[in-house]
Amino acid sequence: MYSFVKKGLFSLDAERAHDFTVKTLGIIGKTPAKYVLQTALCCPPGTEKVCMGIRFKNPIGLAAGADKNGDAIDGFGALGFGFIEVGTVTPLAQDGNPKPRQFRLQAAEGIINRNGFNNFGVDYLVENVKKARYDGVIGINIGKNTTTSVENGKADYIYCLNKVYNHAGYITINISSPNSPGLRSLQYGEALDDLLQALKARQTELADYYNKYVPITVKIAPDQTEAELVQIADTLRRHKMDGVIATNTTISRDSVSGLPNAEQQGGLSGKPLQPLSTQIIRRLHQELKGDIPIIGSGGIDSLTDGQCKIAAGAELLQLYSGLIYHGPQLVKALVAGIR
Ligand SMILES: Cc1cc2nc3c(=O)[nH]c(=O)nc-3n(C[C@H](O)[C@H](O)[C@H](O)COP(=O)(O)O)c2cc1C
Repeated sequence: MYSFVKKGLFSLDAERAHDFTVKTLGIIGKTPAKYVLQTALCCPPGTEKVCMGIRFKNPIGLAAGADKNGDAIDGFGALGFGFIEVGTVTPLAQDGNPKPRQFRLQAAEGIINRNGFNNFGVDYLVENVKKARYDGVIGINIGKNTTTSVENGKADYIYCLNKVYNHAGYITINISSPNSPGLRSLQYGEALDDLLQALKARQTELADYYNKYVPITVKIAPDQTEAELVQIADTLRRHKMDGVIATNTTISRDSVSGLPNAEQQGGLSGKPLQPLSTQIIRRLHQELKGDIPIIGSGGIDSLTDGQCKIAAGAELLQLYSGLIYHGPQLVKALVAGIR
């Protein structure tokens, strides 16, 4: 069935296909059609998992970027995900980079995007989260506006943290998109220290105010050197972060060189990212020794790869590109097979 849908979607430009899918799932999610979809897909409930103090009905999540504005939470939920991460969202709405900015590398089952945090702003997203009826965990992924300098980025993260805190199951700090100039520099040294310190301090105040603790995860890139990765792990541990998402897209083209679209600027996701992200998860797990849970993301395209990432040290999994190439059957296989 998905091969038929995929043919139609792949006849469109990649971003148009994405927008059409989100629109359709948004409509389905608002009507009883979502129960029809749920029944037709026959996704098993999966294995419950407690991570970061939260109960996940199953450990398979939708990665950020698929539903940037939270327009289709209930529709994506009908595909069987145990959690859905919406965003990246920024304080103010922004258009992102000029189109075209999303490209398929079909032969390799990869995608390159340089969207640049196109989104309708944090207030719009929060309204959608409030309306959602999805019974899984909703993570909210936050970033900074492109017009905000990297030096002032902390203010944007705190602004978004304040806005989303009371509505999120967990909150992700995205400092690893390659499409927001200079953003990745926040992953290192004093800049990371300073940002995490401010976020943890605000989290404590918000936890007091709302009388509830909402975990904060940090999403990292797969492109650091060994020394940088060790330093990141140390900083995450020192600030007692609640989780880490490994990984975002890669700027490396080693696995796709020579393929059509491989030279497009942006972050590469999907199957070509798979070994690199698994390697980062494994290395991170050796450093963190289970103190901070890892959410594994990057090229998950089968139950076998999902199991590899769990064996490497991930506690939860997220996917996006695999859904585009393999459809909801992939979610079903992972939900059924990952325990
Ligand atoms: C088109 C597209 C847009 C994305 N947008 C975001 C985003 O806004 N924020 C974010 O943290 N990650 C974003 N990502 C990265 C994904 O969340 C995920 O970490 C990455 O693609 C690796 O997983 P995958 O290979 O299963 O897609 C995006 C990925 C794609 C393909």
